[in-house]
Amino acid sequence: MASKLIPSVPRVGRQFIHQLARRQCRQFSAGPQRRSDSLMVHRNSPVNNPSIPFKFNEESLKLIDEILKRYPPQYKKGAVMPLLDLGQRQHGFTSISVMNEVARILEMPPMRVYEVATFYTMYNREPVGKYFVQVCTTTPCQLGGCGSDKIVKAITEHLGITPGHSTEDGLFTFIEVECLGACVNAPMVQINDDYYEDLTPESTKSLLTALKDAALATGAKVPAPGPLSGRESCENSAGLTNLQNPVWDPETMMRKDGALDA
Ligand code: FES
Repeated sequence: MASKLIPSVPRVGRQFIHQLARRQCRQFSAGPQRRSDSLMVHRNSPVNNPSIPFKFNEESLKLIDEILKRYPPQYKKGAVMPLLDLGQRQHGFTSISVMNEVARILEMPPMRVYEVATFYTMYNREPVGKYFVQVCTTTPCQLGGCGSDKIVKAITEHLGITPGHSTEDGLFTFIEVECLGACVNAPMVQINDDYYEDLTPESTKSLLTALKDAALATGAKVPAPGPLSGRESCENSAGLTNLQNPVWDPETMMRKDGALDA
C-alpha cells in the first residue's frame, strides 16, 4: 500500500542518494590515464598538422624493407604497427604526418592507420619529453613494496608536474599507466624503453636527477635498468628459501630392471 502512495521516482532518487552516501571512494588514479576507448580527436597545431613534412630516413627505410619482407605483398598493411613505431622513434611522436606517410608506404587509407594509432596507447599522438616517464599504478604496483602512490607523489614533488604533463624544459613527460608486466618487482616505472623496478621514493628521485644530469652534461652516470634494490632480477630478496637440497640422484631414481633400455 505504501508503495502505491509514495511515487516511485522519489523513492529511486532516495535510494540513489543513500547509495552515494555509502559508496567508498578511493582515488586510485591521480592523473589522466590514456585509455584506448577514449575518443581521440585530431586538432591541427603548430607542431602537429599535415603540412609538416615527414619522411623516413635512410636507416628507417632499411628497417622498413626488412619488416616488409615478413609479409606477403598483398598483406603489407599488416606492418602498420612496426612502421608507426619506427615513425614515432624517428620523429619523437606519432604525428599526423607520420601516420600519413605510413599510410602512403603501405597503400592503406589514412583512416585505417589513424584507427590503429589511436587505439594503442603506446603511440604518443602529441610530443613528449626526452624522458617519457610511465608509472604503473595498477593494483600489484599499488600494493607492492612502498606502493605506487608514493612513487607518483615523489615524481610529482621532484618534477613539479602532475601526471599527464611535461616539464617546462621539455625533459620529462609524466603519465600513469596500467600494468606493464613487471608486477613481481613492484613498484616500477618505464622510462622510454627501460624498466626501473623495486622503486622507493628516494631511488626514484635519484634516478630522475641522474637522468637530468645525463641530459645536461656528458659523462653523467645513469643507473642501469632493472631493480634498483640490488636484486639481479626477480629472485627472492630473502635469498634461496626452498629447493636447497638436491633430490635428484640418477643412482637411486633410475629404474634398474632394464625395462627402458631397449
Ligand atoms: S601491476 Fe605494475 S607492472 Fe604489473
